[in-house]
Amino acid sequence: MSGIAVKPIGYACGASIEGVDLSKPLSREDERAIRAAWVEHLVVVFPKQQVAPGQLVDFSRHFGELEDYASQPFNRHPENDEVMVITNKRTNGKPSPTFNAGQNWHTDLSYTIRPAKATTLFCIEKPSVGGDTMFANMYLAYETLSPKMQAFLDGLEGIHDASLIQGLEKRGPEIVAEYKRLNPPVIHPAVRRHPDSGRKALYVNERVRQFVGLSEAESKPLIRFLCDHAVLSRHVYRHYWSVGDLVMWDNRCLTHLAVGDYDPGESRHMIRTSGKGDHYGRLVEEAQGTQARPVLKGKEVAAAVDALRD
Ligand code: OGA
Ligand code: MN
Repeated sequence: MSGIAVKPIGYACGASIEGVDLSKPLSREDERAIRAAWVEHLVVVFPKQQVAPGQLVDFSRHFGELEDYASQPFNRHPENDEVMVITNKRTNGKPSPTFNAGQNWHTDLSYTIRPAKATTLFCIEKPSVGGDTMFANMYLAYETLSPKMQAFLDGLEGIHDASLIQGLEKRGPEIVAEYKRLNPPVIHPAVRRHPDSGRKALYVNERVRQFVGLSEAESKPLIRFLCDHAVLSRHVYRHYWSVGDLVMWDNRCLTHLAVGDYDPGESRHMIRTSGKGDHYGRLVEEAQGTQARPVLKGKEVAAAVDALRD
């Protein structure tokens, strides 16, 4: 039997899990109990942990194969390619490319063909106040829409575009160019059924540019409405970090936001892994039946999507 204690910490989602040391190998029973809590609560927080990068990887592997971050080759941990460093501290004498990561509502790697499943984030340093992360329950977002809107969205697909990452341009021209080169726009369903819970979740966030078959003008207000609806306060859990928190969330049924509510002169330093997802989308360019082309930008994406209408 597992000795872990699971306690809800938010109404929309979120539970703390105590009674397990994640720097040690995980027993089958604990793994099973953690998985069940994760499926039920979507975000699980393990307080007072102390894990080295390799231990974070060992823990994360229990929840699936890990992402090698080929689509974002920045800020890898020097000891481990499967670990990304999310930090505002200077890296190799330069501003960190992840200093403003996650500052619009998103779900990890949705702008890639194979978006992430689990993400783990372990807090090593935090500012004296703020630097919070918010999570929105996308099952609730879907379930609280009218049946007609649900039916409409069930048949819709969104175009996810890395160039809509908030503040991407602040990371420097080389990084922006590489990011866009590696991440041309991709198509994913607007609603996804979660393989473990069987529930449908809205899969639309602020990195969606347009819906396939709708014009840009038709798409924009709908995307705005869905993003606003998804993050109503009653759908959201806000995590106030403590050093030693290891948080694991499910990108298939949540969106999240790095609030950025802290003094940039203070350090915020975390390490992260992402699990490879079980769902594959497709490239806009492939859907068009064209050869690989340079990354589509702004209006070109709209034109390409319009061409997919029939
Ligand atoms: C991430 C992310 C949020 C944060 O690492 O994917 O969005 O608060 N982080 O750092
Ligand atoms: Mn993220």
